Amino acid sequence: MSTVLTDEKIPNNVNLAGDKRLQRALEAWQPHFIDWWKQMGPVGWQERDIYLRTAISVETDGWAHFDYVKMPDYRWGIFLEPKQANRNHGFGDFQGQPVWDEVPGEFRNMLRRLIVTQGDTEPASVEQQRALGATAPSLYDLRNLFQVNVEEGRHLWAMVYLLHTYFGRDGREEAEELLARRSGDADKPRILGAFNEPTSHWLSFFMFTMFTDRDGKYQLSSLAESGFDPLARTCRFMLTEEAHHMFVGESGVQRVVKRACELMKQDGSGDVRAQGGIDLPTIQKYLNLWYSLSLDLFGGEVSSNAADAFAAGLKGRYKEDRYEEHKLVGSHFSMDVLEGGKVFHKDVPMRNALNEVLRTEYIKDCQRGVDRWNKTIRDERVSFELVLPSAKFHRQIGMWSELHFTPSGEMIDEATWRARRDEWLPSEADEVYIKSLMQPVHERGKMASWIAPPAKGLNGLPNDFEYVRL
Ligand SMILES: [Fe+2]
Ligand SMILES: [Fe+2]
Repeated sequence: MSTVLTDEKIPNNVNLAGDKRLQRALEAWQPHFIDWWKQMGPVGWQERDIYLRTAISVETDGWAHFDYVKMPDYRWGIFLEPKQANRNHGFGDFQGQPVWDEVPGEFRNMLRRLIVTQGDTEPASVEQQRALGATAPSLYDLRNLFQVNVEEGRHLWAMVYLLHTYFGRDGREEAEELLARRSGDADKPRILGAFNEPTSHWLSFFMFTMFTDRDGKYQLSSLAESGFDPLARTCRFMLTEEAHHMFVGESGVQRVVKRACELMKQDGSGDVRAQGGIDLPTIQKYLNLWYSLSLDLFGGEVSSNAADAFAAGLKGRYKEDRYEEHKLVGSHFSMDVLEGGKVFHKDVPMRNALNEVLRTEYIKDCQRGVDRWNKTIRDERVSFELVLPSAKFHRQIGMWSELHFTPSGEMIDEATWRARRDEWLPSEADEVYIKSLMQPVHERGKMASWIAPPAKGLNGLPNDFEYVRL
């Protein structure tokens, strides 16, 4: 089961060779994927040797292989965690019954929608980030960008494997559609809003990997609980790779914060921008933007879709086994709701509140990251605190999207919002300034003016390692 046949066209631990029909179907999809990668993946750099990790198995130590590879030659494979014997549904109406190895007919559409929605985010993020290779602040960062990109490509493979294997013709059509939609395209956009916003510079890239990839962690974790066993096993292994993406985001922002503090102290006036850095108030605005866009990805606060997916045993909570009760009939979640234009604190039937339950776990995780950034600021002896805005602030999805709120969660009218928006979110001038800083740095071990070097190199290597061969 865990042996990987690396001489196969598609590396895998699912015995693809044992199912010739499926193997042929995926081998037919593979060139379409490569075409998409060449057309919509990273601009430039495709013929360069990049020091990348490749998943070669699911063994805890030894799943990753590091070496130089040209991106189009990356070995995108299919890896599922091994099947647990006698696994039962851990939650929902089928709790305690054996998990499913095939798609249950009555939940087929719901399951397909969950898989396609998750799958769509993977190529979308590659498209959003495709131009960033031109302006990387260091070779270390350039390599990290490509690592994230190739792994998002592998996550697309993970979802396409499920579609091809379990959904017949519809699944094959969905797999083609996943390569046909385009981030930000007016006619064929990606499914979710935040995945249609371009990641136009590196500060946004770090915020994206901090906040939006972290949404991915929570979505994948709740699908890793699924009673549809192949989905659970696929998502569990994806989470292993996802951890590095969030590291890139959190440590990336931390280095920008550190640099801002250093520059504040260097210059008597504390003018960070005058010295080619990104000041802390501007970092706060980008935090506000990407955090609020990412909160939207959890969906409506009160949701019958979430209730249905839980009842069916398809999508659970984050780390379901931490909870005592797994059916959630008759229990409630206490949360803010909007009724008649006013905010009330109310008990909502738990199953309907599951998007909010997951969002609440996500917010705690984000807060831990922000706390670590604030520790960096304190260690630099600078007096400033980064904060997560209220979950009501700048929402496009859900009940709070109907009204306007300040970052501290106070309701305001439209005119006030318009007048004050640029205090809270990046203005056009901020965007112009940040983009003006985005000059590539290709000298080994050197960093752009606006970012501190990483605390240590990748995989035990020095900072001045040749992460990308020029
Ligand atoms: Fe992913
Ligand atoms: Fe990711």
